[in-house]
Amino acid sequence: MRTTYSLTLASLILVNSLAVATAAPDLSKLPAPSTKTDLSFAKDIKPLFEKSCFKCHGPEKQKAKLRVDSLEAILKGGENGEILTKGDSKKSSVVVAIARLDEDSAMPPDGKGTPLTDEQIGLVRAWIDQGAK
Ligand code: HEC
Repeated sequence: MRTTYSLTLASLILVNSLAVATAAPDLSKLPAPSTKTDLSFAKDIKPLFEKSCFKCHGPEKQKAKLRVDSLEAILKGGENGEILTKGDSKKSSVVVAIARLDEDSAMPPDGKGTPLTDEQIGLVRAWIDQGAK
């Protein structure tokens, strides 16, 4: 009887943690893309990343083997591959990261830098939707 109880409890805990680990981020919570047109990395995006990201993904440090200080480096991605899909910001892991939809991938990491505002995330989204130029 006690064994059955422990086993049930153990499998409940297991099922529960699997569900948490595989929970997909809720993309409906992403801030809307900006309506601005003609966005470019150098003019619109680089200044945002410079403030919030360069200290870990720039000339000095490359956490996760990622640099976000040039368009070329961003398109190359990090240790887990590409971080954006040109033309589709919802499929871009960098957008999920800066929107802080889940704690594990939130960028900058909790307490380690200035998070981007909704408006800035909207700009990054629009820039990717427009082809990441
Ligand atoms: C304080 C250091 C720090 C800052 C600031 C920071 N990151 Fe990161 N970043 C990390 C670390 C460490 C990882 C490796 C994964 C982890 O441990 O969470 C990472 C991983 C990533 C990844 C996943 C790359 C891959 O291939 O797995 C992306 C995308 C990313 N960061 C984007 C950004 C962006 C964009 C910013 C700025 C808005 C930013 N990061 C700011 C430390 C930082």
